[in-house]
Amino acid sequence: MGIPIIIDCDPGVDDALAIILALKHPKIDLKAICSVTGNGDLHNTTNNGLKILSLCGREDIPLYRGSAKGLDDKQPDTVPAFGDDGLGGYAHMVQTDKKAEEEHAVDFLVRAANEKPGEITLFAIGPCTNIAKAIRKDKEFPKKIKRIIVMGGSKYTGNMSPVAEYNFWADPLAAKEVMEAGFHELVMIGLDVTNKIALGADIREMLRIFDTDLSKFIYNITREGLDDNWKSRRKPVSPMHDVLTVAYLIDESILTLKKAHIGIVDEGIAKGQSIVDINGHWVNGECNALYAAEVDVNKFYKLLLTTIFKEHEEEILDYLK
Ligand code: BDR
Ligand code: CA
Repeated sequence: MGIPIIIDCDPGVDDALAIILALKHPKIDLKAICSVTGNGDLHNTTNNGLKILSLCGREDIPLYRGSAKGLDDKQPDTVPAFGDDGLGGYAHMVQTDKKAEEEHAVDFLVRAANEKPGEITLFAIGPCTNIAKAIRKDKEFPKKIKRIIVMGGSKYTGNMSPVAEYNFWADPLAAKEVMEAGFHELVMIGLDVTNKIALGADIREMLRIFDTDLSKFIYNITREGLDDNWKSRRKPVSPMHDVLTVAYLIDESILTLKKAHIGIVDEGIAKGQSIVDINGHWVNGECNALYAAEVDVNKFYKLLLTTIFKEHEEEILDYLK
């Protein structure tokens, strides 16, 4: 049996990739998905999650609908890079009859942690709202989670302001409460490394050549992000942030981690900024997280592509050698 995980997410092009990788790798046992508002409104992120499960033939995996608004009771702005539907305008290409569970994602998270204390690895790859609410509901929740792997924040850059990354910016109070909750192990994988794994036009073209249902789906949903990056930064690449979290669990040598104290700015001009203090230098060595400082991009792509497109392994390794 693989490592039991729950993915809390806002699909989302890169969330979709993270889910697909988790479903395809034998080392991982995806127990459930929780949806949260973010890349789209809750209706879209929930439906997108259901569609991805259907596309991968895994309708047996439950999806729990979560929070429509942040802890401040406001709906955060969605992300233009992933189009109006969150899947780059291609959500309509996948049909599903699968429905979300009746139970709310927050109730499910608390229940799952209580049923299997110390066993679950939790992925937070959308705004942290559901997880912060689970902590508010059950103060012992963090102690019952084996580890939490968060895509969010950064030490040196931002994508919603010069200093703030989207997931933390969308619900900064939730990010702060998660960071301060006392999880046994919290890994923060932020823009410092996820920007480096953006999908280039060459590898994207390889997906078109493979011509499978999944490769065509990934090729299509990554187009909007590539166009957006070209217009705004003259870089023909599509964002892949979230998928690095799952790749890390499969092969930890992909990232170099450093112990750190991470604080979150929850209001004002720097709203959503993560203050990364390596080794807790400014707080008497008190570290609350492992911060991802470096990434082996080639190793990441070898893992991602050979896992999802096993039948093309030889070509992939030949190209990436
Ligand atoms: C994060 O924001 C979302 O748009 C992505 O899915 C990712 O989780 C990157 O800033
Ligand atoms: Ca996301």
